[in-house]
Amino acid sequence: MYRQNNAIIRSPLFYVGDKYKLMPQLRKLFPKMINNYIEPFCGGGSSFLNINAKSYKLNDIDSNLIALHRFLAQHSRDTQGFFDKLFDLIESYDLSCSFLNNTPDKALKARYKKTYFAEFNKASYKQLRQDFNANKNDFLRLYVLLIYGFNRVLRFNSKAEFNLPVGNVDFNANVYQALQDYFHFMENKNIDFFNIHFIDFIESLEYEKGDFIYFDPPYLISGSEYNKLWNESLESRLYALLKKLDSKGVQWGLSNLLTHKGKTNTILQAFMQDFHSHTIQSNYISFNDNSIKKDSKEVYVSNVKS
Ligand SMILES: C[S@@+](CC[C@H](N)C(=O)[O-])C[C@H]1O[C@@H](n2cnc3c(N)ncnc32)[C@H](O)[C@@H]1O
Repeated sequence: MYRQNNAIIRSPLFYVGDKYKLMPQLRKLFPKMINNYIEPFCGGGSSFLNINAKSYKLNDIDSNLIALHRFLAQHSRDTQGFFDKLFDLIESYDLSCSFLNNTPDKALKARYKKTYFAEFNKASYKQLRQDFNANKNDFLRLYVLLIYGFNRVLRFNSKAEFNLPVGNVDFNANVYQALQDYFHFMENKNIDFFNIHFIDFIESLEYEKGDFIYFDPPYLISGSEYNKLWNESLESRLYALLKKLDSKGVQWGLSNLLTHKGKTNTILQAFMQDFHSHTIQSNYISFNDNSIKKDSKEVYVSNVKS
């Protein structure tokens, strides 16, 4: 069994809806000692990166996301080689790089006060995106596209082409630190990534005493890119699965949104009556309008008493 420690780190994938800001609250509610840690909707990884366990089984249905995790994890033993290749790529496309003090000149900054990174990088970004779409196994290019992209979302069109526009961001000290933290976490850990439907994933595993599954599914009543994949039927199947795990004595915790913009998740409301629930303090930010919704209530539900 592994005891939890204090530092909170952020995933270098800067995933929309990540749990980075909420981890200090959530982790206090997770079991104090965890054997194997299991996450069926792992997203960018800001949850598992903050958990101490014997092994990690991490899954997400997004194949590009899991490919990026595998790509980064592979480089955890050769971080120098990774950064050399990364900075060479950034330089070869003439992208700005705040981390290396390579930023747009004063005239551009004065002309485009709030958007100078986007102005400076847009032509290079377009070229990089075109080159990635011609070779979709080039995950270093995909990672750089994500870091320089608008809202840092992994977004593909129906032809499976990456189609995010340039963002007003670049590779800075925060990205560097997040990568270093990720590599440090991955080193010498027993981690498996999976890329299947959450139900198949949960049903394929065998569970030991002290294992803990953290569920952070798309939220039924909010709008994120990955919520397009979610619906009431999946929400109900998720709760049936949680009840089944509970009857087998497997420990789990679930994050979700109970109310948002005047809507209530009534399936969740009925389900949570039978388990332990806690309100989580969050300024829930919707992907679509970026505004802070004060009427949103985020909850953590678990079959383990905290
Ligand atoms: C709220 S996000 C998880 C965020 C994550 N906890 C973090 O901190 O980055 C939900 C994730 O569920 C994934 N997802 C959606 N439908 C799924 C399914 N049927 N099976 C597995 N993963 C799914 C999405 O791709 C998305 O990454």
